[in-house]
Amino acid sequence: MADKISIMYTEEEVDKRIAELGAQITKEFAGKEITMVCILKGAAAFACELAKRIELPVEMEYMRCSSYGNETESSGVVKIDLDLDRPIRGKNILVVEDIIDTGRTMNYLIDILKDRGPAEVKLCALLDKPDRRVVDVSIDYTGFVIPDEFIVGYGLDYAQKYRNLPYIGIVEVEE
Ligand code: IMP
Ligand code: MG
Repeated sequence: MADKISIMYTEEEVDKRIAELGAQITKEFAGKEITMVCILKGAAAFACELAKRIELPVEMEYMRCSSYGNETESSGVVKIDLDLDRPIRGKNILVVEDIIDTGRTMNYLIDILKDRGPAEVKLCALLDKPDRRVVDVSIDYTGFVIPDEFIVGYGLDYAQKYRNLPYIGIVEVEE
């Protein structure tokens, strides 16, 4: 059955915002090399577009984690399913995530990365849903601050669907 999806941000709006983030990151990391840590699967589309808009050397690294919990809320117990394949000591890390919801996943992950001795760890999230926050997460670069709605597209999924939509939408599940 087809779900109804209404557009929240068009492809043009998302691309324009990503270009702005890329310009800001280029300015603030000037003179440095960036090691981008893309959190799979949701941040893959965003990380690719963002990397193209950063005019500095960028290494692309990937991590995948899952958090135990029910279908709609993470528990904060995060398991690393795919880890980085090289050390990050002394590196300038830019973690790229699709959405910060309760904040539990990122709160845990950033601590793990900081323990590995990088020069710095900054966080860039395409979307921020502050109404749902349970633990504090400091987001250095935010694409859009959004209300408490379930979002799909631009990498975000609903039951593994809709990651390939070129826009950000709200899914209205058909009963
Ligand atoms: P947190 O630990 O609650 O912040 O979990 C964030 C993770 O939950 C994100 O990386 C997404 O995978 C998922 N998530 C949270 N909200 C949404 C949404 O609206 N659409 C799709 N996935 C979401
Ligand atoms: Mg995710």
